[in-house]
Amino acid sequence: MKADNFVDAAVAAYTVEHTTPPDDVLLSLAEETARLTGGDAVMQISPEQGTLLTMLVQISGARRAMEVGTFTGYSSICIARGLPEDGRLIACDVSEDWTSVARRYWEKAGVAHKIELRLGPAADTLRAMPEEASFDFAFIDADKRGYRAYYEEILARLVPGGVICVDNTLQSGAIVDPGAGGNVPVMRGFNDFVASDDRVTTALLPVADGLTLIRKI
Ligand SMILES: C[S@@+](CC[C@H](N)C(=O)[O-])C[C@H]1O[C@@H](n2cnc3c(N)ncnc32)[C@H](O)[C@@H]1O
Repeated sequence: MKADNFVDAAVAAYTVEHTTPPDDVLLSLAEETARLTGGDAVMQISPEQGTLLTMLVQISGARRAMEVGTFTGYSSICIARGLPEDGRLIACDVSEDWTSVARRYWEKAGVAHKIELRLGPAADTLRAMPEEASFDFAFIDADKRGYRAYYEEILARLVPGGVICVDNTLQSGAIVDPGAGGNVPVMRGFNDFVASDDRVTTALLPVADGLTLIRKI
């Protein structure tokens, strides 16, 4: 699970303690992911983000959702749980290995019937879809350099009032460090673009590694 190193550790722990915790399926998925993927397990969303994603899907009344970056399935389960029984989530990833774990846990969580996996670069998957209002909800959590393209392709296919959630927008707090390298300048460019995009309203929440909520006007 992800370290929230820009929030005071005691406050971060308090936040988690006062958020509905993951159930046994999600706990077991987190344990298996740590065992199978080692250091890569930090890619999994945090438990409080998972609870928030389920609630956002429920509150928005979304029926059709898109995920970019599925990994071993934690966030997809949280999104699918918020959808109604006939709701659908298209889950995009490039890794057959990691998503084979996700497939097993979709069965265990009882949400497999709501999820369709699309393997391949997500930008190609999105561009292959008709440019019409197909989604009410989307979650972007993949390669950071692809975020701008995912955002544009999803926005073109989002209903007015639809919501896009974007993970890792605070980069462990390094987003405000002008000297930081790696993905930080890329993410700063993305954040600046979205904050000034008059097609949407935006709220950047300091939850876990930073979660930006974007609503299409
Ligand atoms: C941060 S992890 C996603 C974590 C996941 N949301 C969870 O809760 O466990 C990023 C994922 O993006 C995938 N990915 C990387 N580049 C991609 C691309 N071009 N298209 C689709 N998926 C990609 C990786 O294979 C990886 O599984």
